[in-house]
Amino acid sequence: MSTLKIQNLHVSIDDKEILKGVDLEVRTGEVHALMGPNGNGKSTLLSSIMGHPKYIVTEGSIMLDDQNVLDMEVDQRSRAGLFLGMQYPQEIPGVTNSDFLKAAMNARREKPISLFQFIRTLEKNIAELEMDENLAHRYLNEGFSGGEKKRNEILQMKLLEPKFALLDEIDSGLDVDALRIVAKAINSMRSDDFGCIMVSHYQRLFELVKPTHVHVLVNGRIILSGGYELIEKIDEQGYDWIREEYGVEIEIEKETPRVILGSCAANVNSHQ
Ligand SMILES: Nc1ncnc2c1ncn2[C@@H]1O[C@H](COP(=O)(O)OP(=O)(O)OP(=O)(O)O)[C@@H](O)[C@H]1O
Ligand SMILES: [Mg+2]
Repeated sequence: MSTLKIQNLHVSIDDKEILKGVDLEVRTGEVHALMGPNGNGKSTLLSSIMGHPKYIVTEGSIMLDDQNVLDMEVDQRSRAGLFLGMQYPQEIPGVTNSDFLKAAMNARREKPISLFQFIRTLEKNIAELEMDENLAHRYLNEGFSGGEKKRNEILQMKLLEPKFALLDEIDSGLDVDALRIVAKAINSMRSDDFGCIMVSHYQRLFELVKPTHVHVLVNGRIILSGGYELIEKIDEQGYDWIREEYGVEIEIEKETPRVILGSCAANVNSHQ
């Protein structure tokens, strides 16, 4: 059994504190649902666990068993078994999806995967996810529809077999059939060697992938944890009752530019 343990995590972006002391412990075998109003820090938490360079950890710790995650580069975190399915997957023109997937798999193996084994694994998973085979040969996410991008994130997760998957709104953009297929793929990963943090705004995904734990993140803190009944209550009543019962002010998200992974790569058109 492995444990991902987050303690008193404070994270800032551009000198603005977004996470203000998050405590969360996830063990393999568990699926944790993370909910909360827009702009309250859910993606910030997942991106910080994965090591997005724009998010600055100012206090607290992230441990994967006895390894200090905060000391690791992103690729080391991936090799250690962490995986992020992004809310807004990036388009990377010039890199084919299959080359990307093979490189990602090989980065985690001592001996490179044989072409035969890679193609067999890829085709099996593409078929299971009912994806268009051509998507493997196109440039990564370029021109993919919203739903195709999300399925492609799940394809990556299936091939990389992480210990802990961080799935950020994996259900957004999926039609009802695709949602069922993706839920089935996540459920097929569930085992004593797999843990998951799943962010979603909607009960629908959690009806299909039943979480073992549920948390609500407001104003950069997990202010409430419980079971499935929390999801039902949020679905019926929204978040206003939390403000009343717990006396917290829920920040309204202001229009600010979002950080996307692409902003780390050289982008001649933007001067960020
Ligand atoms: N580059 C940035 N500059 C300034 N603020 C930022 C930047 N990136 C994110 N933020 C802010 O951080 C806060 C938390 O954003 P985050 O994406 O973590 O929210 P979220 O809970 O995932 O919301 P949603 O449910 O809408 O996905 C928001 O107020 C957002 O505007
Ligand atoms: Mg988000």
